[in-house]
Amino acid sequence: MQSSLTDERVLVLDFGAQYTQLIARRIRECNVYCEIWPYDTPVARIRDSRPVGIVLSGGPASVYESGAPSVDPAIYDLGVPVLGICYGQQLMALQLGGVVERSHHREYGSADLEVLEADSLFPPGDSVLRCWMSHGDRVAAPPPGFTILARTPNAPVAAMADIGRRLFGVQFHPEVAHTPFGTELLRRFLVDVCECRQLWTPENFIEEQLASIRDRVGDAQVVCGVSGGVDSCCVAELVHRAIGDRLTCIFVDHGLLRKGEAEQVRRDFAEAFGIRLVYVDARERFLRRLAGVTDPETKRKIIGEEFVRVFEEASDNIPEARFLAQGTLYPDVIESGTRTAAKIKTHHNVGGLPADMRLEVIEPLRYLFKDEVRSVAEALGLPEAIVWRHPFPGPGLAVRIIGEVTADRVATLQEADAIFIEELRRAGLYREVWQAFAVLAPDLRSVGVMGDSRTYACPVVLRAVTSEDAMTANWARVPYEVLERSSSRIVNEVAGVNRVVYDVSSKPPATIEWE
Ligand code: XMP
Repeated sequence: MQSSLTDERVLVLDFGAQYTQLIARRIRECNVYCEIWPYDTPVARIRDSRPVGIVLSGGPASVYESGAPSVDPAIYDLGVPVLGICYGQQLMALQLGGVVERSHHREYGSADLEVLEADSLFPPGDSVLRCWMSHGDRVAAPPPGFTILARTPNAPVAAMADIGRRLFGVQFHPEVAHTPFGTELLRRFLVDVCECRQLWTPENFIEEQLASIRDRVGDAQVVCGVSGGVDSCCVAELVHRAIGDRLTCIFVDHGLLRKGEAEQVRRDFAEAFGIRLVYVDARERFLRRLAGVTDPETKRKIIGEEFVRVFEEASDNIPEARFLAQGTLYPDVIESGTRTAAKIKTHHNVGGLPADMRLEVIEPLRYLFKDEVRSVAEALGLPEAIVWRHPFPGPGLAVRIIGEVTADRVATLQEADAIFIEELRRAGLYREVWQAFAVLAPDLRSVGVMGDSRTYACPVVLRAVTSEDAMTANWARVPYEVLERSSSRIVNEVAGVNRVVYDVSSKPPATIEWE
């Protein structure tokens, strides 16, 4: 997309750090548009894209390793400000004539940063700041022309700069929450050094997308699949604002949604916003196909295929449609270009339809991270329940029922899940966790006692995790009182459940979902 809004862009060159996307998100939080590009992008391409700033990310390698990722040093002569972070700083130091030391042990954790020069990157006033370190090698002496801006007991050059050439390096990680002044440091680099105008706001994004959708679609018709999640609803409302009733949304109810979600999409979203919605009740159809199936991957595959079939049938009934709008996000765009990781689970996103459809695809959110989608959705006035809804897997409750999926089991799980979520909301914790839900293990029976009689019924597992991006996650420290209330309500109110357990596994080694 070429436009004024994304023209003013910062490039983050990715050296493979776990934190690269976080760097990009922090930059966007400063209202500056940025993109993640591979570290080996030819320097001519970088120059031609006219970035206003460049960030060299961290990475797992050592600059001395054979085949260590590198950049063409011509990048330092483009006249564009550069900020190297961790590995990025070491690479900059080495390439420009400084000294990088190999260390024998990694420094990992919080450190006290002594600020020697506060003018450029550091907020004035504090001479000692907390920062987060995670590195093996370290810069021992900065390159000629550079001054040392800060140090820690373990890193003699924790920050360095050649102010004249606008080249900066930091050993610590400004992008993580453990570096409290990190966002301020990035803001200083972006605004004071790169002179960014901070145009990247939800309101500007919406305005630009409306123009771009109108431009692309002309007077054609668009279909859009909505699932009830924030991404698809946000796409739908953007397109609806752009072209009005030339948009038709298709909502495939596979019967595996959370309690009350189907009504929320129909009534609180489509009706409330005046969006034409074709509701396809495919509940029976999915259950029939899932009968007798217990293998998690087979379930996912069946649901994925069936979803595409149902959606295609529904969209074929709208022959005048030329475009399909879908909620692809920036992480999907980056990952589909670079992903080599082993397949752990088939992530069939119900928004993601096969490319061989007769429809041309429009993806208004392909530049956004999830938190930005939420800001845009909020600016569009979407209902709070949709904006802040936890992520939900495409195959829905089918991957939260361990074993065969039946209508009764779905109903049981919906009730238990709704109680847990209600208790979390009541305790004000819903937004604090990344995802929370219940899992049903219907084939696992245990003995209990209720009133005067013995029960032999199945357990519900409660799961709540905190996370930045779902790639890693910690089990959430939900207070005992909330767990206690959820547990006692579930056992009392949901027939067929006599025990509640809480999942205390993090990812890795577990995954967030159970299947
Ligand atoms: P896992 O279980 O792999 O999940 O740790 C990571 C995140 O992805 C969501 N998830 C899915 N999303 N289709 C989706 O659109 C899927 O098949 C799917 N499986 C898992 C999961 O809820 C978590 O947020």
